[in-house]
Amino acid sequence: MRSKKNTKIISVVNSKGGVGKSTLAIQLSIAFSKLMNFKVLLVDLDDQGSSLNWFNMYREDDSDKISACHLASKFLRKQLKKVSDGYDLVILDSKGSRDRALGDKVSVEAILNSDYTIIPVVPTAIDDLAASDFVEDIIQPLAGEEDLALGILLSKTTRSKTCKYFKEEYRKNDHVPFFQSEIPDSKQYDNCLSHGLACFEYKPNDMATRSFLTFFQELCENLGYSKGKNKILSQLKKVNLSHKSKNKKNLHLVKQPL
Ligand SMILES: Nc1ncnc2c1ncn2[C@@H]1O[C@H](COP(=O)(O)OP(=O)(O)OP(=O)(O)O)[C@@H](O)[C@H]1O
Ligand SMILES: [Mg+2]
Repeated sequence: MRSKKNTKIISVVNSKGGVGKSTLAIQLSIAFSKLMNFKVLLVDLDDQGSSLNWFNMYREDDSDKISACHLASKFLRKQLKKVSDGYDLVILDSKGSRDRALGDKVSVEAILNSDYTIIPVVPTAIDDLAASDFVEDIIQPLAGEEDLALGILLSKTTRSKTCKYFKEEYRKNDHVPFFQSEIPDSKQYDNCLSHGLACFEYKPNDMATRSFLTFFQELCENLGYSKGKNKILSQLKKVNLSHKSKNKKNLHLVKQPL
């Protein structure tokens, strides 16, 4: 465990750009604040500042217990020590970069300073090479470290054959744990943000919300959090019954061993 006793640090990491890191980091910050009643610090490690800019420009909910800031990845541990006091949870939104070495450097810093790392990977032909390199060169060697907890999250998934193929291939990799749940490709994750809201606040009945909350529940279980479980379940119950019956399988979550 890398953080102070009472503050957990989770990171959302992939050197590949555009896999949905910032979108997920924002949704998670709001979910931990609203559904778990946590005081959350969102740290944007990207100098483009996507998630930080979003919070500053769009989020106007006074009841939030969320702060956001930018930190450079250099001396990250020292900087995190300074800013994380008093927070239940720090979420690191890492940087994707065309400059692979730079992206990897920030990713490694984020992973090594986290208690738990989420790695969104898009299972498509175009993303596959970058994802495989990242997992083989960066994640697998780090995952060999004893107390490193991480999970690969399939992101922007579709029902296409290609997506299905890559999903099956990735799940054959038994070196790195995968989340059972996944985040589908859906415009709702962006639509809600343009209204200053997380998906579960904007459209509680939408499939995108359902998928996010299912993932959130799995994540909380992996992190050992149970106190907000009822709130998460009651949010899940708000999801339209027809969606539920069609996707009943997803309700039975299996904890991913880490
Ligand atoms: N689940 C999703 N379904 C569809 N579109 C998504 C999803 N998640 C994110 N997007 C869209 O994909 C684009 C990239 O998302 P985002 O900025 O979150 O990725 P990122 O990994 O943080 O990128 P970068 O590495 O450049 O920081 C945005 O246009 C966003 O709206
Ligand atoms: Mg980003």
